[in-house]
Amino acid sequence: MNGKTIYLTAVTALSLLLPASQAQNLSLTVDAGQAVGTVSPRFFGLMTEEINHSYDGGLYAELIQNRSLMDNATKAIHWSLVQRQAAKAEMSLDDSTPLNEVLTNSLRLDITTASEAGPAGVANDGYWGIPITPNTTYRASFYARSDNHSGPLIAKLESADGSTTFAETKLSGVGVAWKEFGLNLRTGALNPTKGRFVIYATRRGSLWLTLVSLFPPTFNNRPNGTRPDIMRMLADLKPSFLRFPGGNYVEGDTVETRFDWKKTIGPLTSRPGHQCPWGYRSTDGFGLLEFLQWCEDLHMEPVLAVYAGYNLDHSHIEPGAALQPYVQDALDEIEYTCGDASTTWGGRRAQDGHPAPFPLHYVEIGNEDWFDKSGSYDARFAQFFDAIKAKYPKLECISTVGTEHPENQRVHSRKPDVIDEHYYSSAATFDSDSPTHFENYDHNGPKIFVGEWAAYEDVVPWEPPSRKLPPTPSLKSALADACWMAGMERHSDLIVMQCYAPMFVNVNPGARQWRPNLIGYDGFNCFGSPSYYAIQMFSQNHGDTILKTTASPGLNQSATRDSATGLIYVQLINPKGQPAPVDITLQNVTLLAPTATAITLSAPDETASNSVDKPAAVVPVTTTVPNIQPSFTYSMAPYSVTVLQLKPR
Ligand code: AHR
Repeated sequence: MNGKTIYLTAVTALSLLLPASQAQNLSLTVDAGQAVGTVSPRFFGLMTEEINHSYDGGLYAELIQNRSLMDNATKAIHWSLVQRQAAKAEMSLDDSTPLNEVLTNSLRLDITTASEAGPAGVANDGYWGIPITPNTTYRASFYARSDNHSGPLIAKLESADGSTTFAETKLSGVGVAWKEFGLNLRTGALNPTKGRFVIYATRRGSLWLTLVSLFPPTFNNRPNGTRPDIMRMLADLKPSFLRFPGGNYVEGDTVETRFDWKKTIGPLTSRPGHQCPWGYRSTDGFGLLEFLQWCEDLHMEPVLAVYAGYNLDHSHIEPGAALQPYVQDALDEIEYTCGDASTTWGGRRAQDGHPAPFPLHYVEIGNEDWFDKSGSYDARFAQFFDAIKAKYPKLECISTVGTEHPENQRVHSRKPDVIDEHYYSSAATFDSDSPTHFENYDHNGPKIFVGEWAAYEDVVPWEPPSRKLPPTPSLKSALADACWMAGMERHSDLIVMQCYAPMFVNVNPGARQWRPNLIGYDGFNCFGSPSYYAIQMFSQNHGDTILKTTASPGLNQSATRDSATGLIYVQLINPKGQPAPVDITLQNVTLLAPTATAITLSAPDETASNSVDKPAAVVPVTTTVPNIQPSFTYSMAPYSVTVLQLKPR
């Protein structure tokens, strides 16, 4: 019997029927006859931006780091010179022979001595090592030119020290003009290992290389695609929308480093990349069309955030004529997303390989514009709002100034369709605030989008000390997150959309800027935090009708019913270390099945967490609860999130 089995047994024992009238019991009444609202069909979604190596070194499956040599102005970082046996060569970063006006740098290799037995080459160490896995076909490509070296070249996947070759392919045909080369590298049986990718030259001469790319198999076999393991984890969250591309990433530190979407589309040779606000350079290999295809792959609707003239250095573009080009850029971006192929930018999307328009209902104007203390957001929002509504009257415009910052200006001159509010709170705050937080919102006002939220344990997410803690949260945070979700679900007629942030973290040392994060990974594996599983439990188990509940003060709970199946879902959270019996009364139900299903996320210790080495330390378990009646007692396990599925007979 392993530890998990012992614990399951304990949970089951605690869930047995207890006398319904214990003095200390909490109480919950669910009135199945009183619908208090309809659960928004877009309630569960995802939020994403380039942070913590979310795409480069993350979801985007590219394995070569600094593939176009644009990441550093003076050094060919992540590249090293390899000289086998008697080979002699020098490697340098070079801008004398650009591929085009966008990719202006290349890697120059000057070889004085080389042969097939003793070649000279350049090696890339990838994102914390190139993950080399057995029986895998990798697709490599690169641009090369030479005045005096026609090859052959040998591309290899090898161990980090070069002592073992896992796959190799020889090619020839390098000429004076830049030319693209493509090849496959197939590994055999091996133990997964971190390695490097090397291009070897076998003759004396000078060689230039750029846009060196290496992809393992991708989700749906898309070229320039995504990691299948991470995509599968996201699919399990059943997301209905994706908010992108930020977050701070849409704003940039400066206007020049905003998410300039027109520089992220088309062939990779036309994407220069840009400095992202989280301290590293983005290749923009994962650009606007890739975000949209990601939506399509997971059946999500895009919630498109457009740059709105505010930058993280606190500068802004004056509303009026100066802002107009950015408004036009947003209109073009919307057209690229949802215009048909006969429009200018819809036509460009078709040319880029996707003739069909993507569905679009929501456009977010900026990000966290309450940071803009100049007071310009009202007029900036109005300018975008008027232009978008004039061309796309059905699109809903989201304001980024919400009630969570009452000290800041609200948008007054136009009524936003939706307001985006962000909540990064301590676990203790979520525990206590969740039962009442949304009680007094005006249901006749704008709808609410909780576009970023997460509980942290002790250290605020953006402070450097948080980086000393594990990259993903513990069960303690997941319990608080579940409290917050229960509060939002009870108001999911008003809260039309919500999503946790940040979604991704590369767990390698130095890869992250923020903590906590929902999903962690290295080059080989990914895992969900306990918060991931709490969200999965909620998103996989809810109905379409919010039911009226009456609960003991402080009990975090929510109940919904599915009109098609009649199933009633009750969410219960116990953030404390002792069992907590709840007397549950179901009103206005006549015929209940005698057993219910309980899905429970729990651990004996609230500091328990998951990691790349122990991905399933805290995962939901499913049990059967017997003797269900209109009044029964369910004992919540210590430190637990529970979903009860109550079935009609
Ligand atoms: O989620 C991390 C950051 O938090 C986002 O980029 C920003 O919108 C918020 O301040």
